[in-house]
Amino acid sequence: MLSLSRSETSYNKPESCRVTIKQIVAPNYCRLTFKSPVVAGAAYPGQFVMVYMPREHKYLLPRPFSIFRLNRVREEVSILFEVKGKGTELLAHTKRGSQLRIMGPLGTGFPALPEGSLLVAGGIGIAPLVFLAAAEGKPCTLIYGARTASQLICPPDDLTLPNLTILEVTEDGSKGAKGSVSDLLPGLVSGAPALFACGPRQMLRAVKALCGHSGPPAWFSMEERMACGIGACLGCAVQTKTGYRRVCRDGPVFSAGEVFFDD
Ligand SMILES: Cc1cc2nc3c(=O)[nH]c(=O)nc-3n(C[C@H](O)[C@H](O)[C@H](O)COP(=O)(O)OP(=O)(O)OC[C@H]3O[C@@H](n4cnc5c(N)ncnc54)[C@H](O)[C@@H]3O)c2cc1C
Ligand code: FES
Repeated sequence: MLSLSRSETSYNKPESCRVTIKQIVAPNYCRLTFKSPVVAGAAYPGQFVMVYMPREHKYLLPRPFSIFRLNRVREEVSILFEVKGKGTELLAHTKRGSQLRIMGPLGTGFPALPEGSLLVAGGIGIAPLVFLAAAEGKPCTLIYGARTASQLICPPDDLTLPNLTILEVTEDGSKGAKGSVSDLLPGLVSGAPALFACGPRQMLRAVKALCGHSGPPAWFSMEERMACGIGACLGCAVQTKTGYRRVCRDGPVFSAGEVFFDD
């Protein structure tokens, strides 16, 4: 278990980091591990890093990724990502031993996790929740859902945590229970002291509706396209109940009551 400090520290200078492990975990899904004393020394769950493109493609903006695993002793930080477009394609072709610039830790992450909490992950939304469960070490239950088994890609070694009970669910029934995370939630949500979720917007919308007014306090990690990652360009601003907030700086973690899903 890590010793956690949720200070406001955020580092807004990119540093050059060596890729120490590169793993294709499934077709179109990649895990990269970087040697980064700065990120590994300061990050807490829910924060993210901006990863810059290899030098030959430096005209492309850096891309944001949640911190997936962190090893303070080895000063390493890992990300887990899905190949979606040009940037993630380039990163998935990065070779072990090469240098990439990363900036972080950035953003406001999750608050402390009470024992017995519920974690809800949709697809690649698993990334920040594994860091949360591993860092806090308290017993909690993870509902891990996706459309189909091939999207439940988190490496088993990363999910094997002594404090974590895992319930898998797929829409087509190819792994775990058949259905969606919202089918499993009603039986679990009332007994949980808090809920932490990351995944597609429609999943978060459903989770928020199920928690309702009487449910536990819930925290969502949100995604928006980002340019600067440090609160300067306002490109990631979203409307919340307390006005426009920057996902990169005020988030990416927001309380469920604060975010709108009416779009
Ligand atoms: C705080 C934060 C944490 C994130 N953590 C992870 C993570 O752990 N693993 C992971 O796989 N992805 C994560 N993402 C999303 C990831 O940043 C995007 O998938 C990536 O930037 C896409 O870059 P690209 O060049 O490959 O795709 P592009 O060519 O830029 O776009 C390809 C497609 O992806 C969509 N897309 C691009 N950026 C985003 C975004 N920020 N959010 C949602 N959709 C997007 C576009 O609309 C388009 O349909 C995170 C995003 C944020 C904001
Ligand atoms: S990405 Fe620039 S303000 Fe958030």
